[in-house]
Parts: sequence; C-alpha cells; structure tokens
Amino acid sequence: MGDDTSHLFQKAAEYLARGDQERIAYIRSPRWIGYPRAQKVLKQLETLLSYPASHRMPNLLIVGDTNNGKTMLVKRFCGQHKPQDNPTGEAAVVPVLFLQAPPVPDEGRFYNAILERLFAPYKSGDRADRKQFQAIKLLREVGLKMLIIDEIHHVLAGSMAKQKAFLNVIKYLGNELEVPIVGVGTRDAFRAIQTDPQLSNRFDHALLPRWANDDDFLRLLATFERVLPLRYPSVLIDGSLADKIYSMSEGYLGEISRLLVDAAVAAVESGQERIDKRVLDSIDWVPPSERRKEPRE
Ligand SMILES: Nc1ncnc2c1ncn2[C@@H]1O[C@H](COP(=O)(O)OP(=O)(O)OP(=O)(O)O)[C@@H](O)[C@H]1O
Ligand SMILES: [Mg+2]
Repeated sequence: MGDDTSHLFQKAAEYLARGDQERIAYIRSPRWIGYPRAQKVLKQLETLLSYPASHRMPNLLIVGDTNNGKTMLVKRFCGQHKPQDNPTGEAAVVPVLFLQAPPVPDEGRFYNAILERLFAPYKSGDRADRKQFQAIKLLREVGLKMLIIDEIHHVLAGSMAKQKAFLNVIKYLGNELEVPIVGVGTRDAFRAIQTDPQLSNRFDHALLPRWANDDDFLRLLATFERVLPLRYPSVLIDGSLADKIYSMSEGYLGEISRLLVDAAVAAVESGQERIDKRVLDSIDWVPPSERRKEPRE
C-alpha cells in the first residue's frame, strides 16, 4: 500500500515520512546527477589539473547549448578542489579559481573579477596592466593550478580588435602562470578562439550538446525518478511518457530538471504521487523555444 520504496534512492525514500512542505522543499533543492558525458568532462578536468607545469599548457573549452549544465559541471569540479586556508603560510591555497567573465570585453574589469575572487583590495581606477601585474602575483602566491572562465564568450565578443586583445590576455595568463585555462561558453567562444591558430592549437574541446531522445536520456529520466520522493513509481522511461518529457523540455538539461521538479511538486500537491501525462498537462509550461519568442514588456 505505497510502502514499497524500491523505486527511490534511500535518501529520497526517507522524505516520504516527512511533511509535504519539507518534501516539496527537498524536491526543489538543487541536486547533482552524474551522467556519462559529465563524468567524462570531469575526468578531463582532473587530468588537466594534474598536468605538470610547462610553458605550453593544454587548455580546454567546454562548449554547449544554453541551460544545459555547463556551469553546474565546472562548479562541481571546483567543489572537489576547494581552496584551503594555509595555517603556516601567508596566503590561502587556491588550486582552482572559478571566474565569471564580465559581460563586456574589458581587460580592466576582467582583472577586477580575478582580484575580487581572491578578496584582494584593488583600485578600480588603476590601469589594466597594473591590475594584471597584481593578479598574476596573487595567483602565483595562492598556488593556482587551473583557471576556469565561465561565460567566456562575453569577453570574446565585440570587434576583431577586442577579440584579439582578449585572446592575448588568455595566452599571456596561461604562459605566465603555467596553468591550464578552462573556458566555458557558447559556440561563439569556439569560433573566436579558432581565429587565433596558436591558441586554437592549445584548446581541446568538450561538448555538452542538447540531449537527444536516446538511451542516455532514458537513463537520465530513470535517475530523476529515483531522486524525486513520490510514493508511487512514475515509470518515466515508458516510451510515450519519455517522448512527452523530451518534447516539452526540448532536450535541455535545465528544462528537463525544471519540468520534472514542477511535475513532482504537482504530484505531491494533488495527491497523485506519481508523474504521468495528466500531471504534466496540469502544470503551466511554455516550451523553451516559445518562451524565447515571447515579447518582453
Ligand atoms: N548534473 C546535473 N544534475 C541535475 N541537474 C542539473 C545538472 N546540470 C545542470 N542541471 C540543471 O540544469 C540547470 C542549468 O544548468 P547550468 O546553469 O549549469 O547550465 P549552463 O549550461 O551553464 O547554462 P547557461 O548557458 O545559461 O549558462 C541547473 O540549474 C540545474 O537545474
Ligand atoms: Mg552557465
């Protein structure tokens, strides 16, 4: 009578005994699901991190569709390589620095972002080369082993001259610090890097493309089912249900996640306790491609 929890991971099953509000909060809380492509990229990052320092470090560009798990993946990696306070030395040890590129290709602001991540005081009015000097000095002091730049397409946007200037910044940082640089962004970043043969040579690519409606997708659905604490099995991998989830989400991981979370919440609130077509139809859902078309007021 609904006591069978074999369709859930143990942690999720424990939430069946809690109140609905607590269960819904758990359903909505962020979670990491390991899928084969993500595991592969995480492994690539590990390999890069242990690469011996040289004047010619390999770099990695993680390219993917929007809302598809790029940032979450690199943040997961950062979580596995957290900064450590150094009780004996002066500076903390920061093996991996995660940085969000400023929204515009501006060297000064790029270095501001680095200095802010390191909690270093700086004068925003200082010239870019001064900030560059300060940033490099500090990054050496914290023993940096990898620099991750998210939204890298932002700084590689703009005129050819701007693009070129930033490609030089990246080259310079890599050469000076002898650490691999990991860029994360859209295909525009890929195209920008291709314009510099010397740099494109040193960048491997990892792709996080939109999901296809294939076996990996079914495995992903099966995992979601096991982490969402509902009393009855939904059998999301059932052909027609899986097809419906695929077409509603259009294969973006962020959409798949949001759709299933919303549906699970609706299934708790309605007492249905499983995700089926009716539940999926009951939630307000505008497909992502439609959402992008909607005029903003
Ligand atoms: N490994 C994962 N397990 C579970 N959910 C995930 C995972 N990766 C991503 N998601 C879901 O997808 C959403 C979008 O992920 P993320 O922000 O990493 O995308 P992105 O590719 O960086 O998007 P953007 O191009 O907009 O920056 C997350 O908020 C989360 O809900
Ligand atoms: Mg992102």
